[in-house]
Amino acid sequence: MVKSSLEVAIVKGRGLMKKSNDSLHDLKHAENVEQTALEIFKSEKIEKISTGLVSAAAYWHDVYKASGNGFRLNNIDGRGSRLIAEKELGNTLSEKPLKKLLRAVADHDRVFKYAFSPKSFSPLGRLLIEADMLDVPDIDRWKRGVSRKNMTYFQRVVFVLFELMCIALLFPRIFTFEKAQQIFKKKSKEFWDFFLFKESYFFKIITNRV
Ligand SMILES: [Fe+2]
Repeated sequence: MVKSSLEVAIVKGRGLMKKSNDSLHDLKHAENVEQTALEIFKSEKIEKISTGLVSAAAYWHDVYKASGNGFRLNNIDGRGSRLIAEKELGNTLSEKPLKKLLRAVADHDRVFKYAFSPKSFSPLGRLLIEADMLDVPDIDRWKRGVSRKNMTYFQRVVFVLFELMCIALLFPRIFTFEKAQQIFKKKSKEFWDFFLFKESYFFKIITNRV
């Protein structure tokens, strides 16, 4: 059977994520984002997007971070992934789906803007941001990644405090889809229980004892 162009894009994106050196932006993270985005997508009426496009966006959104050598602290991961996707998928996808994918990928890291102006984002971009943010309070992801050995002590403390602050203060206003709100409620409860009370992960992570 001939593969559709979106299927080819998904396979290519998975291939890049599989080679990731960044334990927070690896294939498992992309798979989680895909699964969550599809879950939200199926419970909402979102026009002019297909499940294939949702999956492809999930596999391409972090290819920039995945292509680096471990920890990257910068604010161009959306634009970086867009550039890579534009180069790699230019001959794979037709114009319309490519344009939608590139816009969503480029916008996926504009979380602060999203919290205050979600309507200025495309439907695919909204889906991608919310699914991506729902993987932040994921316990297994913290276990896999936050102790990244190539971070200095200072970077680790800043990183953990920043992520916790986002989950506590910013995230409650991020989720606009009803399904996303439900998932966030459940995940954040499990996360705080685990992180602060059951395992004292905060101290393990900043002292690099995970
Ligand atoms: Fe991501």
